[in-house]
This record gives sequence, structure tokens and C-alpha cells, in this order.
Amino acid sequence: MTADSLPLIGAGLDRVDAPLKVTGSAHYPNDFGYPGMVHAALVRATIAAGRISAIDTSQAQAAPGVLTVITHLTAPRLERGPMTLLGPSPPAPLQDDRILHYGQHVAIVVADTAEQARHAASLVRVEYETAKALLDLDDPRAEVLTDPWSLDTDRGDLDAGFAAADVVVEGTYTTPDNTNNPLGLMSTIALWHGDSVTVHDSTQWPHNVRTSLAQIFKVPESGIRVLAPYVGGGFGAGLRMWPHVILTVLAARELGRPVKLVLTRPEMFTSVGHRPNSVMRFKIGATRDGELVAIDADGVSSVAMEDDDYEPVSLCAAVSYACPNVRTRDRQVRLNIPCPGSMRAPAEGQGNFALESAIDELAHKLGMDPLELRLRNFAEVDPLSGLPWSSNALRECYRQGAERFGWSRRSPEPGSMREGRRLVGYGLAAVSYPAYQVPCQARASLHRDGSAFVRSAATDIGTGTYTVMTQLVAELLGLPTSRVRFDLGDSDMPYSPQAGGSGLTGALGNAVHAACRRLLREFLDLVGDDADSPLRGAGLGDVTVSEGCIHRIGAPDQGEAYTDILARHGLEGLSADGRSIPPQSEELGMAIAGAFGAKFVEVRIDPDLGLLRVARVVSAIDGGRILNEKTATSQITGGTVGGISQAMFEDTATDRETGRIANATFGDYLIPVNADVPDMDVIFVGGPDRATPVGTKGVGEVGLVGLAAAIANAVHHATGRRIRSLPITIDQLL
Ligand code: MOS
Repeated sequence: MTADSLPLIGAGLDRVDAPLKVTGSAHYPNDFGYPGMVHAALVRATIAAGRISAIDTSQAQAAPGVLTVITHLTAPRLERGPMTLLGPSPPAPLQDDRILHYGQHVAIVVADTAEQARHAASLVRVEYETAKALLDLDDPRAEVLTDPWSLDTDRGDLDAGFAAADVVVEGTYTTPDNTNNPLGLMSTIALWHGDSVTVHDSTQWPHNVRTSLAQIFKVPESGIRVLAPYVGGGFGAGLRMWPHVILTVLAARELGRPVKLVLTRPEMFTSVGHRPNSVMRFKIGATRDGELVAIDADGVSSVAMEDDDYEPVSLCAAVSYACPNVRTRDRQVRLNIPCPGSMRAPAEGQGNFALESAIDELAHKLGMDPLELRLRNFAEVDPLSGLPWSSNALRECYRQGAERFGWSRRSPEPGSMREGRRLVGYGLAAVSYPAYQVPCQARASLHRDGSAFVRSAATDIGTGTYTVMTQLVAELLGLPTSRVRFDLGDSDMPYSPQAGGSGLTGALGNAVHAACRRLLREFLDLVGDDADSPLRGAGLGDVTVSEGCIHRIGAPDQGEAYTDILARHGLEGLSADGRSIPPQSEELGMAIAGAFGAKFVEVRIDPDLGLLRVARVVSAIDGGRILNEKTATSQITGGTVGGISQAMFEDTATDRETGRIANATFGDYLIPVNADVPDMDVIFVGGPDRATPVGTKGVGEVGLVGLAAAIANAVHHATGRRIRSLPITIDQLL
């Protein structure tokens, strides 16, 4: 079967890995054990800036079960990891006495048991010379980086645009630090065998861990195997290779024994990235009839010392609407903070809050329906390149979403809708998510027994990769899903990029497509001059597949089963490799589109108590082809919960003196519970994207983006109060 005949919305097949997960047979990184395995614990800095003046490990060394304590005084010099698709590696650990942030690893302790290691870690005495830490975005002493990734944009004439505007809105929007908190505590097990090493790791990108460790430990990549068949969630925390992974591998090498490290929840707050805080000043001008004529967007966000994570929070202002005069500027301020990293919808998660709030403010000032204003400024072509979209069903998102939600019932005046004593607010936000794809490889095999095995070194961080790839293979090879095994999470498999940036389903799906097509061609080559085969001389374009058979299109009786072909030729199986390369805009003459979405939210507010509840959410999503309705819907509803969390709950609270994170536990770091999560309705609209064979666009992040603005806009509609600072808390509503 060719990709063209795939269903637009794939069946909602149950997760193929679900039975393993619910019976405890799916092994997450910290579920593995080895004979002689020992356990590590970390010691973290308790100041944000300065240096270690003394470190005394004698008590720790003498504690029961302790095997080693490694500090900057005893660690070998380590090269920093490589530049990756996602930027540079975080700085190498234990390289000198400087402290750059609170929570920085200052020692790793290894003991026979995890409890012994943790106890001994508490006995390491560290004395510091404390310097004044840089912890505020507006600290005048901080270094400011200007457009380090060359992503600032300019088009048209901004001054002329504002001069032509009848109405201008301007606001400063702020978002706090948020911390990725996958339920699975991130874990590493390292096991050396001579000069090679096996590593179990909670990573979203096994090949990155392999490449990084190869460079750092000067071991050929062939000597490193990274395993991550199951990962206890990700949200971006597993994209970069973090220093604790290096320390575990280092300790295992020193001891010549397998070492396991499981981060604690508080350590997760300082060791595996976070969504950096931001301050965004957005100014928008429009004509009286609602035509956008100028957008000026300025974003400032934080970055760690000696790190380079970058989130262009203002960029969404340049790509979302048809507006002739636009300027976007991003600045980063270097602070004594733990290294940020991507957290579900990096940059868009913050920028969209500012942009879509500002659009709502503009609609209010114009006296225009916010949906109408957005429709009027729909970008018929990609605003950046001027090229036609490879696909764009945003207008359908608006139309179908509004209908499902009942947007027409909204009375425009703030505070005009009530239910009992509660104020009711309707809010809307749009999302134009950028496309992201990188090369990927897969290998497909068909065995004599008629089963298929396809693999690639990707990860399934809970998103459904195992399941949707199983379905895709089944469709492409004409097999029942029960005869297909898809495997992943092993760096010895063909190269895969990270599960991130909403890009894996596309990159991997198209690699799987290429591998399956090539496999079919192998079969046709085999019977090319086979007088016994009804497929003799057939090309790929002449055949289709179903029920384990290849047959001529339109002639189901002119074909034969894979198993018959293999048996007749005395083969155990056939295999083929496939790769996907990202579609190129210029080559195709079209702008490669990501997902689009429209989010409609109803809130209820108790005006006396300032209590805000989200009552309903409708998400209308153009995600291109949807491989599995159930897992895709779960992606959007999960993202919606993440968006509600960003809008109303999450706020990593940092002590301004010590840099200590004050709420680094699940008891203190607020996230929504079931009672905070309303009915969530998801509609998929649009069609397959025409830039790639499979035509998916990725739905990992579009679900989260827009919720913050839609909720803030609904709050304004309910109360007349404009909240420009996340999270929206009770005190802002009293
Ligand atoms: Mo995500 S932040 O693309 O893992």
C-alpha cells in the first residue's frame, strides 16, 4: 500500500506496549539490575555562585558501604560534549571549584546500597566562598546575549506600519520558570566491559547519549550501547545529555562495577532542564477594520552560565499572521541558574501567551470578535518566506472549533455572562506551530513466518511511538498489526533523532515508509524474472498489498504471499533500510507547515473568592495525517493539561539570595489534579501534509500551546481583568 491510501485518521488501536506496562514487564531504566551493581548519590551545591573553598569527604569515605567519593579534586579532566542538533552540550561536571548555580553537582558518592550512598552524600562537607549571584532578568550586572542564533526577524517598515495604525495595543507579559517533571525519576545505569560500555538512560535520544559519551570518554561509538526501550515520560527533560549521566559512567569506570543513579525529585529540579522564565513586550497595530499593520515583539529570557540553550520567544509573532511590518527581537540574560532545556513547546509555550493575549486585547479595543480578527489576518501564505503552505487548515480549526464550542453564544461585553454567582468567560487562542524534521533511518524485515520486524533507535516517551509505527508498518506491508513488531530504544539500531520538537513521528514515519517501500521492491526484484510468479515483471507502481500478499492493483487474484515467495526462493527473510530526509522548502516551492490549532476555553470564576476553574476546552487541530486517533487525542489532551498547568499552576520558585528552589517537590510544585481538569474535546481537521509521503505534522506540542492565552482571554471576558503574568493566581483575581 502506498502512503496515499492510508486512512486520514488512523484507527484508535490500543497501545501495543500497554500489556507490558500494566503488568510491570516493561523495564524502565531504573528497573535494570546487574550482578555486583552498586548505587550512586549526588552532592549538590547549596549556593548559586562562588567557589568551593574546601571539600572534606573523609566522613563520607568512612561511612558504611562506601566505595568511592569523586569530587572536582579527584575527577579526571573531561572534554565537554559535542554540539548537537539542539545546541551545545551542558558543561562537563566536576571540572573545577567554581559554582555556577544552586544544585550543581559537586560530588558523586557510590556505595553498596542506594541508602548508604545517600547517607554518605549527606556527610560530604563543603565550604564555599559565596559570590553575589545573578538571579534576576533585570540585573544590570548580567551579560545580555543578542540574537545568538540569528533568529531575529525584520520585515517591512515598522514605523510606517504603526503610523498607519488606527489602534495600537502594547503589553508586557511574563512567564515564570517551569520545571519538567516526568513521573519517572530520571535514571542511569552504566556497565563497562573492558573498553566498551552499556548505558541504560532515561533519554529521549539514545544516539545523542552515545555520541556524547564517545567524545567525552574517548571511546569509539561502536563501543557504546545506549538502551532506553521505555522512558518514564519526558516533556523535553531527556533531550540533552546531562552531567549526572557522565558522572555515573565515570564512577562505573573507576570502580569497574555497574553503577546505578536515580535522581531524587528535588534533584530533577536542578539537573535536567527547565522552561526558562521570560519577559515579553509585544506591541501590535491595526487599522480600524482589524487589519494588522505592525507587530513589534521583544522577548527576554534567561540562560545559564556557560550554556547556550535558546528559546526564541518572540519568533511566533513573525510567523503566525499576515502582517506586512514585523520586528521580532530575542535577548538572553546569563544568570546563575541551572541549565534550562526544552520543556514541551519550548519558546512557543511562552511566546504564544504574549501574542495571543495581545491579539485579544486588540480585538477588545477594536470592538471586534476575537475570532473574526484572527480570521481577517489569516496567513494565506507563510509570512516569513511568502511561499504557499504545504498544508494549512487553521481556518477549518477556527470554524469547526467555534461550532463545537458554541462560540456564537459569547456575548462580547466582559462580565456579561454568568451562571449563578459565577462569572463565565469564553476565550480563544490560535496556534501556528513550526515544522521540525531531521533525518532518520529505519530497517524493515519480513520473515519466513510472515511476520515483520521494523526498528530504529527512537524512543517512546509515552507518546505512542511503538503503537503508531506498528500500525504504519501493518498498513504499508499489508499485514495485521499482530504480525508486526516495532522495536526502538537501542543505539545499536539505525539512527534516529530525538523524540522531541513534535518531529519524531514525521521523521521516523517517513523512514519507516522508505524502508517498507524498499522491502517491497526487494520482493519484486526477487520475482522479477520468476516464471512461477504472477508478479513477474511488476514494478512498485503496479502492485498493492493486503493480508500478507503482494498483488497487482485491481487484481487480487494476481499475487502471492510474502511467505510463498520466501519459501520458493529458500530465504529466511528479506530486509531493507530506509531513511527520511527533511523536506526542503525551496526545492518543493512550499513552506513546510507544522501543526495548527484553535483553542476554545470556558472558565468560571467565583468573584468573591477569586477562584478560577476551567470548565471546558475544545481543541481543533490540524496535525496533518493522524496515524492513530486515540494516541493523537491523548497527545492533545495531555498537552491541554500541560497548558492548564502552565496557565494556572506551575511556578518554580527560586530564592533570590541562594538560588535555592523552594518548591522542588511534588507536594510544593503545583500541577493540576483531576478536579482541575475539565472536559476536553479534540477535533482533528485538515488533511495529510503534502511535503512528505506520510504527511503527518506532529501533535506532541500543539496541544499545550494556546491554553495559557485562551484561559487568560477567558478570564478577561469573565471579569474585564487582563492578566499578563503567569501563572494566573487567586490574588490576581481578587
Ligand atoms: Mo519536547 S520539549 O520536544 O521533548
